[in-house]
Amino acid sequence: MSYLFRYYAKVYDRFMSRFHLDDDSIILDIIGIGNKKIADIGGGTGRTGDKLIKKGHSVTIIDPSRSMTIRAKKRNKKIRVINRSMPFDMKEEYDVILFRDCLHHIRKQRETLELCSNKLRKDGLIIIADFSPESIKSKIIFCFERLCFEKIYEVDEKKLLKLLQSFDLNTKLIRINHRDFIVIGRKNR
Ligand SMILES: C[S@@+](CC[C@H](N)C(=O)[O-])C[C@H]1O[C@@H](n2cnc3c(N)ncnc32)[C@H](O)[C@@H]1O
Repeated sequence: MSYLFRYYAKVYDRFMSRFHLDDDSIILDIIGIGNKKIADIGGGTGRTGDKLIKKGHSVTIIDPSRSMTIRAKKRNKKIRVINRSMPFDMKEEYDVILFRDCLHHIRKQRETLELCSNKLRKDGLIIIADFSPESIKSKIIFCFERLCFEKIYEVDEKKLLKLLQSFDLNTKLIRINHRDFIVIGRKNR
């Protein structure tokens, strides 16, 4: 069980806002409005999930940290929560599977993404927002997380593109700045 998210849940939202790590506007623009079925992997306190529900979507947060997801439920009762760690064989299929600031916390990334690509509906998207390992600012974030006893598995965006392509997804890289990137994988069949 993660020490970081267990003890840090209380101050998580304030911390993210204070250090300007809470901007999910590009993700919200990519998904748009509608009634998509969305899995928010590592959705934590439900900041993004809440906004997606207000845009008409249904959201299931899949996240092992009860301290984090209790806050998501308080924020919006419509958020469904599954308290499990990825990878596991998800029962349902989704239009969008989102990893925002989460993939670098997951050890078995290949297995997780392969399972997710098999759970995408036609035209479904995997959206991964993470920190580029080359950036100094990312290194500072990872260093802080490691100091909080969190294991970090850095995500190289170029390797990530190749990995998603190997699952037959069409890919796109959006480089937001030197630190932040978004990788999108689309299933066409
Ligand atoms: C930095 S928080 C991001 C929360 C939220 N996505 C956001 O953008 O505010 C990372 C989250 O990933 C979750 N997490 C860590 N390992 C995970 C795993 N193996 N499967 C699913 N979620 C995981 C943590 O519990 C935590 O809530």
